[in-house]
Amino acid sequence: MFRLEHCVLAMAPVLTSIHHQSFDNPWSEQAFQQCLQLPTVSGRVAIANGNSAARPLGFILWQRNTEECEILTICVLPNERHMGVGRQLVGICIKENQKVDIVLEVAKDNLAALSLYRRSNFTAVGVRPNYYKRDDGKKMDAMILRRPAGQKTTC
Ligand SMILES: CC(C)(COP(=O)(O)OP(=O)(O)OC[C@H]1O[C@@H](n2cnc3c(N)ncnc32)[C@H](O)[C@@H]1OP(=O)(O)O)[C@@H](O)C(=O)NCCC(=O)NCCS
Repeated sequence: MFRLEHCVLAMAPVLTSIHHQSFDNPWSEQAFQQCLQLPTVSGRVAIANGNSAARPLGFILWQRNTEECEILTICVLPNERHMGVGRQLVGICIKENQKVDIVLEVAKDNLAALSLYRRSNFTAVGVRPNYYKRDDGKKMDAMILRRPAGQKTTC
């Protein structure tokens, strides 16, 4: 089991570590520091419940303006996946931003993330061809997904 806590500046190192274990092209700690200081950026980190030292499992960051919310990044430690952490992180983002559309970009071949978002009522509204460049030099399209405001929370 886990709890969700607000992402704060002091968490930049641990968020960086989780990001580095989750993406080919992870953000730097400096990027997290800059992001977490923006007044428009919010997020939640999932912390494992227990008596030992806090053990972060994954996190989500989003940026909100008056018209829409963009999910900037979401990731869960490889060994902690398939246990509902991602679903809860997307769920809290939806709950906190019910009055605006939520948008995001996801690689066309990221089946786990696409499945997670579709379950949460996101639908594809566009494609950015060859948007992602992988370590092996291959390029991959980005799907643009949108979840219109005002839908019931399903996750
Ligand atoms: C995408 C990610 C955040 C999902 O986190 P997670 O904690 O494993 O997700 P959950 O356990 O909450 O699963 C929620 C749903 O996602 C989908 N899902 C998760 N992993 C999946 C997989 N490997 N294959 C297919 N669907 C998957 C399922 O629909 C699942 O629902 P179900 O368990 O009822 O079948 C995680 O895989 C991750 O960190 N990936 C690397 C970073 C990344 O790609 N982030 C998204 C960038 S847009």
